[in-house]
Amino acid sequence: AATTSYEAESATISQGVVESNHAGYSGTGFVNYDNLVGSYVQWSVTAPSAGAATIVLRYSNGTTTNRPMDITVNGTVVAAATSFGSTTNWDTWQSKTLTVNLNAGTNTIRATATTANGGPNVDWLSV
Ligand code: GCU
Ligand code: CA
Repeated sequence: AATTSYEAESATISQGVVESNHAGYSGTGFVNYDNLVGSYVQWSVTAPSAGAATIVLRYSNGTTTNRPMDITVNGTVVAAATSFGSTTNWDTWQSKTLTVNLNAGTNTIRATATTANGGPNVDWLSV
């Protein structure tokens, strides 16, 4: 099925800032999560039909430490403490793919940092 990318810098951001000081992002920047538990980016996405959907989160983690995040769909944690491991440096981006159930129409997807390191830097979410 066709995919749509939703830029993190256009999403709802809680305890994070839009930055562009590392290379390789798409759009106008990426979100630098504040380094604390609970910082998040939340997207409103559209699914053509109800059921299992592949979502991809593009991220960078220039540290050697995992930056896990809870992934919630419509308020329910569907992937707890999902790993976002090192990408070697902050200019290197990787894709994390998950399968989640979506409703037909509008859905809310949130990626919330679960450790005091905050989340990785996040570029976009695709559905
Ligand atoms: C550096 C980097 C940021 C990153 C931060 C972090 O400051 O420039 O982009 O978000 O480290 O460790 O979270
Ligand atoms: Ca950060």
